[in-house]
Amino acid sequence: MGASFKSIAAKYKGNKDAEKSIVARLKAGDGHPKVEASEADLDAIVR
Ligand code: HEM
Repeated sequence: MGASFKSIAAKYKGNKDAEKSIVARLKAGDGHPKVEASEADLDAIVR
């Protein structure tokens, strides 16, 4: 279920704000199931 990390990377390629906005949306559960993880882990996985 969900998009592959490869397709997500392609979608957001060159988008400088992507890291921040994706982390914020995953934390809030905004348009995506809420991901329960530390800020550091979310940062790392999104990067
Ligand atoms: C470490 C856990 C997870 C991370 C980091 C993650 C991250 C992401 C990201 C970055 C996207 C792309 C959003 C976009 O295109 O703007 C995505 C899409 C999606 N994810 Fe996850 N996800 C995680 C876990 C899950 C889980 C557990 C589910 C389901 C129970 C899920 C379901 C989905 C679905 C359905 C989409 C497609 C949404 C769409 O295309 O509109 N994800 N995910």
